[in-house]
Amino acid sequence: MEEKLILILKDYQQKITSASTLKGLDSLFLALFGKNGEITQATKEFPKLAKEELRVVAPLLARVKAGLEEAVTKRREEIREGGYQKLTGEKLDLGSAELPKDKGHLHVITTFEEKTVSLFQNLGFQRYDAPHIDSDDFNFGLLNIPEDHPARDLWDTLYLDSEKFGIEPGKLLLRTHTSNSQVRIMREHKIPFRMMVLGRCFRYENLDARHEHTFEQFEIVYVDKGLSMANLQYLSEHLLKGIFGEEMKVRMTPGYYPFVEPGAGVDGLCIFCKGKGCKVCGGVGWLELAGAGMIHPTVLKNGGIDPKIYSGIAWGFGPFRMLMLKYGINDIRTFLSGNLKELLKYEEEK
Ligand code: DAH
Repeated sequence: MEEKLILILKDYQQKITSASTLKGLDSLFLALFGKNGEITQATKEFPKLAKEELRVVAPLLARVKAGLEEAVTKRREEIREGGYQKLTGEKLDLGSAELPKDKGHLHVITTFEEKTVSLFQNLGFQRYDAPHIDSDDFNFGLLNIPEDHPARDLWDTLYLDSEKFGIEPGKLLLRTHTSNSQVRIMREHKIPFRMMVLGRCFRYENLDARHEHTFEQFEIVYVDKGLSMANLQYLSEHLLKGIFGEEMKVRMTPGYYPFVEPGAGVDGLCIFCKGKGCKVCGGVGWLELAGAGMIHPTVLKNGGIDPKIYSGIAWGFGPFRMLMLKYGINDIRTFLSGNLKELLKYEEEK
């Protein structure tokens, strides 16, 4: 029995030291101290032993048992410690992980809007929102475009079924331009004021690569004493240089809009040929990007402002057109298409 115990001790001490996992160690422990374990079995044989032998074997068994238990505990700690060191020793460098290239970004229109708003906030302009569904008056009548006036042909209007709401037919519409804000702004604010309106407009269009039924406009309405076309020129340069870069040049050409006098078109130097004349600008060297002018005296009066004392300037730019030129986008329907594959290509820097 003595020899047997010494053999078990040696055999298992070696097995325990070479165990490499906690699970392996658990099975060794069971093989020793479990129901049918070697040590348990040896203890069961004690009653059969002679008293003399028992006197030697009993303390030996106690020592073997303690020795093996200690060995298991020690090895268990070593394995745990080793695992921990392995974990801390391994470098998990998340910082250097390369991010997937196809991560998303803000829609080019959103970034354009943020940029434009900040460019004009810097000059003291305040943001104003006007309704998308509006009356014939604010969209046309009060802007010096009476009913049946041929100028209405400039805007292909989407009329709503207004009779349902008890409103005369043809009096409720989707705004065709952000100019529907002008008279509202004048009635609601004390002079002087500098306002900007950025938002959706809607027209009844035959859709193609250059016509979309829903689009954006960027309008400013600025009323003070002594404003002139020179202010308009300065502000146009501020916008176009801010979007296209410092080398951009701006000019104004005569244009007709019933709510301004004089009226103008704001042209930017063609970014493709730099004024030489190319296919995109139709050989002109310039591209028309906005309608603008000095606010018509009748419109100022409709807004409760005395045109003999005050003057106003206003414009309406088309962000879709500007972005199409900047990024060479050849289909206006891209912007609202939801086609991520296409839209992810255009990221307006902030
Ligand atoms: N509302 C015009 C349009 O949609 C653009 C425009 C022209 C706006 C002249 C203005 C302006 O404020 O003064 O075609």
